[in-house]
Amino acid sequence: MSCIDAKTMVEGTDFEKKHTPMIECKDTVKAGEIFEVKIHTAGVEHPMEDGHFIQFIGLRMGDLPLARVDLTQYAKPEVVFYIKAPSEGHEGSVMKLTSYMYCNLHGIWKYEKEIKIE
Ligand SMILES: [Fe+2]
Repeated sequence: MSCIDAKTMVEGTDFEKKHTPMIECKDTVKAGEIFEVKIHTAGVEHPMEDGHFIQFIGLRMGDLPLARVDLTQYAKPEVVFYIKAPSEGHEGSVMKLTSYMYCNLHGIWKYEKEIKIE
């Protein structure tokens, strides 16, 4: 599945808030640090019912897939990943995290957050 066509928050509608996978984590991490990344919908709960639910939530760093969780209608579309920041030698650089959320009816959505490595 291509993530290039992923939709994201543009107008701030409830429909967008239901599908955009917000990233909640620190803005700055140390090289090699393991830190928590929480991903959840942007303030409006998405239904999780037969025929309409979030099928997976994923996280990438640039083009590199870091983690992914498959869901069913019996789960809450919210996950916490523990991610390791790039190690020594990357101090001063920026890590670009992109979260993905896939709704079986409304397709793939994304959100991006940049994190400084110190
Ligand atoms: Fe949906």
